[in-house]
This record gives sequence, structure tokens and C-alpha cells, in this order.
Amino acid sequence: MASLPDELTGHQAARGAPSPALPNGPRYPRIVQAWLWLKKPTWFLDRCSRTYGDVFTMRLPLGINLVHIGRPELVKAVFGGDNDVLRAGEANATILEPLVGPHSVLVLDGPEHLRQRKLILPAFHGDRMRAWETAVRDITRAEIARWPVGKPFALRPSMQSITLDVIVRVVFGVDTSARRDELRRHIRTLTGLGRNPLMLFATRDRRLGPHAPWARFIRARDALDAALVAEIRQRRDAPDLEQRRDVLSALLLARDDEGRAMTDDEVRDELVTLLFAGHETTATSLAWAFDLLLHHPRAMGRLVAELDGGASEYLDATIMETLRVRPVVALVDRHVGQAVGIGEHTIPAGVIACPNIYLAQRRADLYENPAAFRPDRFVGQTPPAFGWFPFGGGIRRCLGASFATFEMRIVLPEVLQAVNLRPASRRPARIRREAVTFVPHDGARCVMIARSQPAPPAVTPPLS
Ligand code: HEM
Repeated sequence: MASLPDELTGHQAARGAPSPALPNGPRYPRIVQAWLWLKKPTWFLDRCSRTYGDVFTMRLPLGINLVHIGRPELVKAVFGGDNDVLRAGEANATILEPLVGPHSVLVLDGPEHLRQRKLILPAFHGDRMRAWETAVRDITRAEIARWPVGKPFALRPSMQSITLDVIVRVVFGVDTSARRDELRRHIRTLTGLGRNPLMLFATRDRRLGPHAPWARFIRARDALDAALVAEIRQRRDAPDLEQRRDVLSALLLARDDEGRAMTDDEVRDELVTLLFAGHETTATSLAWAFDLLLHHPRAMGRLVAELDGGASEYLDATIMETLRVRPVVALVDRHVGQAVGIGEHTIPAGVIACPNIYLAQRRADLYENPAAFRPDRFVGQTPPAFGWFPFGGGIRRCLGASFATFEMRIVLPEVLQAVNLRPASRRPARIRREAVTFVPHDGARCVMIARSQPAPPAVTPPLS
């Protein structure tokens, strides 16, 4: 931070100073802004950024003010700012705590957050992940075998099925198929309920009776909890605990600086966190990658040719470009505990500061023709600092970033080398909001023309 001028360093306004004004933003009634944010999120973001610039305020019901930040230097100031003032855990907790629990790394701040991060991070070490490669490949092949030939189908549900199986097998490490089926059933019920955008607001009113979305959510969550706690207790006693490569076993073996292990409740909360944070995000990013490739035959042709030749540079560029132009998580949140200077703005206490991934990654001053899908722009190029951050940043950067990339680097080649696909529509899918994520409106529909005969040997790019 030393090289940044004072106004970019996230300085705090003097205590007792009058509350600063919110940055400019649309003046429509809050309910209208909420509707636009839910139903036309990219149109609304584009319009606000054109009208108000790199920093603007979106005013939502219940007094929620989102200050969107789309300029790289200011994003850097937020990520590098004082984490006691810019609190991600507090911002996430409002919506996520009922699902992920009070010990989740997502909803904690300060030393408790750092403790959980340190306990989880080693479970995603590169060496461990390499042991999951065969499982990810097998799961992908089993899913491809279920696809129909000649009939349109949506890729996203298929990718969800793959990433869910991956979580159950390599994160939870569940070995028996009956247990896996039970967990998958609970998770599907819960994620189905979570897709309803009204759940974002339902968490604020919990008194609507046993058939309301909230009550159904609590029942589904409790059923998943019970299954996970049973798995945790059984795993603690597993004779091969130390040899196992799954994430749950690693969490049970992890010790903090004082030599303390995680409690069952902590482990449960982190498992749900990894499930919630890792399953739909990775599946949807994969669906977007296929949707974009299928609608850009030149990029698809180059990728397939490079994979056939055993190279992986264009694969990496394709993944980066997909995450740039179709970020599944459009923004990250930081609850502002005390008025703070960000650039020429002083952001008042009580608002949510949102480094905006979607806007920063579509800047014309960083990317030529920013809305276009052009993997070439990342071939041999590193992304601009704070102009590419699909995994967030600072001490909150996604804990599963390398795992997600690892999974995408296996699933994409596996599919492209096993089958011939064509798009089911003339244009790429539109971006639609689903709960907190941006997803393809039609689920990324395609048609499988044929299976490749004979199936080519799998190319496994080495982890970089
Ligand atoms: C393409 C897939 C993924 C995307 C786009 C993504 C994106 C993100 C973003 C934007 C954040 C917030 C970072 C911030 O606040 O600055 C985040 C946090 C997190 N992600 Fe991911 N994620 C993905 C996959 C995964 C996977 C596979 C896992 C684990 C299995 C995971 C686990 C987490 C966790 C635990 C956090 C919380 C970190 C913290 O608060 O310290 N994510 N992710």
C-alpha cells in the first residue's frame, strides 16, 4: 500500500465527523432498484456505470445500500484496506449464515476468520488435488455416457451433477454409494430452494409459517446437517484417517497454532461452506465455457487442436476468458464498519462496499472489445492487476480457486475429446441471475452430434 496516494489507501474518516454522503446512484424507488437488480442485473450495472462512473450506489429495500466499485485502483484499495473496517464476514453473514453456520470461514472476520482459513487451506494443496484427478475424470465420463445423441439438452445441470459428485467424493470423501445418494438428495433439495431469489429476502423474515420458503429451507438444512454430522463422527474413528486424501479427513487432522483441532460443528460448517461455495460456481463456469466455445467455432477449433497436440496454453486462456466475460459471482461484499476513503469518495459506515467483478472485467481501457469472447487475449499474457479477479481478493480470496481451475482443466478436455457438440441456439445464452450467481438463461443448451470413435486417450494437462 505504500506506493498508493492517501486517498486510495482506505483511510478512515475521523471519528465524530458527520456521516458522508453516499456516492451518486439511481434515484428510483428502492423496490424498483431491487427489481432491476434481481431481474436485469447486467443491464442495470451497465447503465449505472455509464451514468455514474466507476463508483455508484444502488439503494435496495430494508435500507441496504450497495456501493459498487469498478475501477482497478479502487478495487485494490478495498482488498488491501483495513479488514477490521471492511468486513466481508459481516457482509456475507446476513444472507449466508443460516446456511453455512456461525463457524464458516465465509461469515467470520478478524482472527477467527484467519484461523479457519489456515485450517482449511492445506486441504487444497496441489499434491492432494492430484490424487483427485482420476475421480474427477471418472465422474465426468460417467456423466457424458448419460447424454442423448441428436437431442437438445442443457449442459449446466450436467455440470452441476459432475461438480456435486466431485464434492461428495473428494471433499466429503464419502465412499459408499448409499451414503452418496443420501447426501446428494439432501443437497439437491437445499440448492433447489436456494435458487429462489426471494430467499435473499426471506432470511430477513422468518415468521411466515411451516410451508413458507424459510421453513422448508430450515428442514432441508437440518436434514443435510444430520447426514454430515454422522459422516464426521464416523470419519473421526476411521482407521485410515491419516492416509485418506479427501478434504474432510484433512480438516479432521488439521491443528491451529495452539494445537487445537476443529470441533464437529466447525467441520460441519466448513463442509457446507465448501459445498455451497464450490459446487454451483464451478458447474456454472463450466457451462459458460461450453456455451461460449460452441458459439465461437474458431476458438473451439483452436482449443481442440491444441488439446489433441497435448498442449494446454489455450485451455488456460479459455478458462481465464470465460471467468472474465461471464463471472459467475459478479461482485464481492465488504461491510463498511466505519466511514472510509476510497479514491475521491468517502464511503459512509453501514453500507456494503462491492468490488464489482463484472464491471472491472469489462473495462474498455483494459480489454479491447471487452464484451467479446477472445481467449487469445490471455495467451502468453497475465491479466491486468485488479482488472481480473473472478475469485475476489485480499485475505478473502477464494479458497477453492485452484481446485475450481483444476476441475475445469480436467472436465473441459474430457468432454471435448469424447463427444462432438453443437449449440442448440444461434446466439450465446443471455446472462440471468440465479440467487447470487450469474448463469446462462437456457442452461447452456447444446446437441451431441456424435461420440468420438474411438475415444481418444485422455490428455491430462499438468497442474501449473
Ligand atoms: C469457478 C468457481 C469459483 C468461483 C468463480 C469462486 C468465486 C469466489 C469469490 C468471488 C469469493 C469471494 C472472495 C472475496 O470475498 O474476495 C469466493 C470465496 C470463497 N470460495 Fe470460491 N469460487 C469458486 C469455486 C470455489 C470452490 C471449488 C471452493 C471450494 C471447494 C470455493 C471455496 C470458497 C471459500 C471457502 C470462500 C471464502 C473465502 C474467505 O472468506 O476467506 N470456491 N469464491
